[in-house]
Order: sequence, then C-alpha cells, then structure tokens
Amino acid sequence: MTITKDDGFSALKRFIEQTLKIQCSNYKEDYIKRRLLSRMRSTGTTNYEEYLKYLHNNAPELENLRNALTINVTEFFRDADVYDMVKKEILPALFKGRKTIRIWCAGCSTGEEPYSMAMILADIMAADKTVSGQIFATDIDEVVLKKAKEGIYTEKSMAKLTDTQIHRHFTKLPDGTFQAKPQLQALIRFRPHDLMSGQPISRYLDMISCRNVTIYFTEKQKDELARTFHNALVPGGYYVMGKTEYLGREVEGLFVPVNSIMKVYKRKE
Ligand SMILES: C[S@@+](CC[C@H](N)C(=O)[O-])C[C@H]1O[C@@H](n2cnc3c(N)ncnc32)[C@H](O)[C@@H]1O
Repeated sequence: MTITKDDGFSALKRFIEQTLKIQCSNYKEDYIKRRLLSRMRSTGTTNYEEYLKYLHNNAPELENLRNALTINVTEFFRDADVYDMVKKEILPALFKGRKTIRIWCAGCSTGEEPYSMAMILADIMAADKTVSGQIFATDIDEVVLKKAKEGIYTEKSMAKLTDTQIHRHFTKLPDGTFQAKPQLQALIRFRPHDLMSGQPISRYLDMISCRNVTIYFTEKQKDELARTFHNALVPGGYYVMGKTEYLGREVEGLFVPVNSIMKVYKRKE
C-alpha cells in the first residue's frame, strides 16, 4: 500500500498526542509513519483521515496503536555479555565505594530488564549482607508497566534463565507460568515516566540502563536525554545503552567510554 497524500497526518498526530499522550514530534517522522502504516494495513484503512475516523469509532484500536508506537520487544538478560559486565565489573566497582546503590532501568517494557538486574543484585546481596540496592523501573506505556509489576512470565520467555535462577527467584503458578518472588519484586519500584519529559525519575543514581529505547528518538531528543542522565548520575556513575545505540557528538564529552562494544559509559566530571 502506498500513501499518495499526507492529508490528515497532522490531525492524526494531534489526536495521538492528546489521547495517548505520546509526543509524536519527539520521534522520527519516518518511524511514526511506518508504525501508522502497519496499523492501517491491519484495519483496512487506506489513508490517515480514514484511520483517524476508524480510531474514533473503534475504541480497542487505541491500544493496538499504542502498542505499535511503543514497540515493547524485550527479554531476560538481553545481550548476555552486557549483563555479565554488570555482574562482574560494574556492580562490584560501585559497591567498592558505597554500601547501597541506586539503579534506573529506563524504558523497562514488561520488566524482563529490571528483573534481570534484580537477580544479579539479589545474588550480590545474598553473598554480602552488608550491601543493598534499589532499582527504579520506568516506561511511558502503562499497559506494559502493569505486566511488569505483576512479574508473571511464560516458561518460553524464561528460556535464558538457569534452573537455579528460576528456582531462587520465581514461583511456578498453577497455569504453568512463573511469577517473580516478593523478595525479588521488593528490589524494584515500577513507575510510569516519559523519557522525553526532561526530568529524571530520581537523582544520585549509580547506574542508568536505558537500552533499545532511543532508536526511535530524534538526535535532539537523544542529546537531551543524555544530558538528563548526566545530571541524574552520581560522579562516576554508569550509563548503559543498547548495543546498537550511540551517543551524539554534542554530548559525547559528558561521558567517558568504559566499553564501546557493550556501550557502557561513565559520567565525566
Ligand atoms: C524495545 S523496548 C526495550 C525494553 C528494554 N529496555 C530492553 O532493552 O529489552 C522499548 C521500550 O521503550 C519504551 N518507550 C518508548 N518511548 C518512551 C518514552 N518516551 N519514555 C519512556 N519509555 C519509552 C516503550 O514503551 C518500550 O517499552
């Protein structure tokens, strides 16, 4: 399907901004258009105006559109080598300087990322009772956040976890799914948060993991986010990006690369 005219795109964007509270102008236009096109294909509509009418008449489509715009793909220990570095280098380095640390998983989707971090943290805390940590996990999409809070996962989605991890941190439910144990959940605070707001969820953070989120952001938004993270981190705090993401030229000077393959940076003073 090719869209020959742009009619109605602005009206549709306004509707999305007002109804879904997603600021389209902060995302690459091409990205928004591709996501809309996919929903238009699924709903049999052929232009933006028609799709907007469809949205007005079919309330459930709003959720489909939200899901299409905020792609939520995630998994436990996504990029195992990065989590290995978190476990063997980053957290031990942080705990050398302090007894308690604060981590922010920004754009956490259905929770697999913060629960992976929490499992690492829980193991460290079990081995050394004098240390502790807190994870803030946020996302703009309240639907995925609700799932994250419940912490219930299918056996298939847990394929990367070892038997020991599953046994230690999850309870098997009667329907065959697994739920994160209360002591694992207690390490995480889930909150709705828009990364484009310019406000961090907290300050004095020791590590921010914001992975596979900014690929949809404009260069300007990415730079602003890097500045927000820089302000929210403690001196020497870590910023972990997705492996395919990169720091813009304008903000490169704010961070020192620790590992350029894993995209791990440290706040520069
Ligand atoms: C592809 S998932 C990445 C999940 C996880 N970080 C990972 O690497 O597996 C991207 C997430 O970013 C969230 N997101 C997109 N725009 C956002 C924004 N402006 N503020 C907060 N979260 C956002 C989406 O809702 C989605 O859950």
